[in-house]
Amino acid sequence: MTDISRLILNNTPSVYPVSKFNRISNDKKVYIETYGCQMNYSDTEIVLSVLSDFGYNETSDINDTDVILLNTCSIRENAENKVYKRLDDLKKYKKRNPNLILGILGCMAERLRNDLLEKRKVVDLIVGPDEYRKVPHLIDNLIETGEKGIAVKLSRVETYDDITPVRKKGVTAWISIMRGCDKFCTFCVVPFTRGRERSRNLDNIVNEAKRLQDEGVRDIWLLGQNVNSYRFENSDFADLLDKTAEAVPGVRLRYTTSHPYDLSVKLLEVMAKHSNICNYIHLPIQSGSDRILKEMNRLYTVSDYMKVMRLAREMMPGVGLSTDIISCFPSETEDEHKMTLDVIREVRYDGAYTFAYSPRENTKAYFLKDTADEETKKRRLDEIITLQRKISVEINQKLIGSTMPVLIESLSKKSDDFYMGRTDCNKSVIVSKTGPFVSGSGGLNQNRYLEIGDMVNIKINKVNSATLFGEPAESHETHF
Ligand code: SAH
Ligand code: SF4
Ligand code: F3S
Repeated sequence: MTDISRLILNNTPSVYPVSKFNRISNDKKVYIETYGCQMNYSDTEIVLSVLSDFGYNETSDINDTDVILLNTCSIRENAENKVYKRLDDLKKYKKRNPNLILGILGCMAERLRNDLLEKRKVVDLIVGPDEYRKVPHLIDNLIETGEKGIAVKLSRVETYDDITPVRKKGVTAWISIMRGCDKFCTFCVVPFTRGRERSRNLDNIVNEAKRLQDEGVRDIWLLGQNVNSYRFENSDFADLLDKTAEAVPGVRLRYTTSHPYDLSVKLLEVMAKHSNICNYIHLPIQSGSDRILKEMNRLYTVSDYMKVMRLAREMMPGVGLSTDIISCFPSETEDEHKMTLDVIREVRYDGAYTFAYSPRENTKAYFLKDTADEETKKRRLDEIITLQRKISVEINQKLIGSTMPVLIESLSKKSDDFYMGRTDCNKSVIVSKTGPFVSGSGGLNQNRYLEIGDMVNIKINKVNSATLFGEPAESHETHF
């Protein structure tokens, strides 16, 4: 038996003497950093909930904490490198406080457990996405026995359905509706780091949304790696979205991510029917070449994808569209790269997330020959980004002078003098905090400045490729 398998056996007992561990863990502080996708952020809220039951409080002060956790992402090499670099930074905190516990959660914990345990001595805990209930017990065991904790089993059933996430107070909230992915795109680590697809109970999701609405949340994201695979008893994702939209009329609903293979007409119908579901679809195409899509195991052709896009635009006029694109998948030719540019020109997306292909060990694509040289890789990605930026600016420029409902979500990242809000089509809008008074009636008080949570009509006066800028229009207050 290797050291690691012994550790797994030693450190993941199925029954814990809870009262004893409670005693040890009381009143401890945990500092947590999250990397990766929204599901990971949503998982952090689950981990905080599990830990709070054992007397832990979250702190934002890394200098005064008992536990540091990094909830990590493996999707591309640079995501992992960021965490490795962060681990080097964190050594100094361990030196200063030898009792400090440092844990790695999330997809890197799942994928790189051996490497982390053997080569990164600063790491005390390694916990994969389906084992978060064990975090407090592993910490206690570590304190008691000095044994490092590792729990990385993937589950076919764990959905944390009974756990109420510890959310930051705000206008926006995430609800994870399913976990895992069965699609096995040949470039992707997610099916290995997150395991098989499984969905949460529909009523529990709807009730969670209602509770959030009562607490003042005005914007909910339904999350899954592949939301279209949601299944609970006889209900699919369209049914879930329909029921949720009906249950929370005061909330704007969004979801991510949809896979083009199983985005149904029924889903588009539900989206078109409810005014509180965002008029926005993020549908990753990945490549504009059928041959590459086949190599990627994406299960659709460009023409299938275009049909869905056309239908979406017919059924939901003005729908906001965005996509993900991977440039330079192994063996991609210049012509195939041009096909991707053609698709971008044809669809005219509002925005795109573009990535250079990153080989991931153990995925199918990892064993394919990487053909493009570094210069070609850089050029192709630049061409995609430049084209998309040009289209985004053209689309956004047409919005100058128009007025649209915007939900004010938070302070702007760049300046506390501005708010960031979003349109129905998911475009970010920057609005001055101290702009003209909002003088609407009804829900809004007379003569006050904008506040987070307001849904107001904003007149757009300036744009760039990613952002709109504006100020409250004559008739300010609005609704979905
Ligand atoms: N479940 C989502 C995607 C999750 S990952 C979906 O299928 O649409 C987000 C994006 O990261 C993917 O859409 C893809 O564009 C990109 N990505 C995933 N693996 C990658 C890799 N090995 N190299 C580069 N980009 C990758
Ligand atoms: Fe990865 Fe494909 Fe699953 Fe998305 S659908 S998470 S890209 S395997
Ligand atoms: Fe990253 Fe894992 Fe999400 S690999 S993108 S954190 S599912």
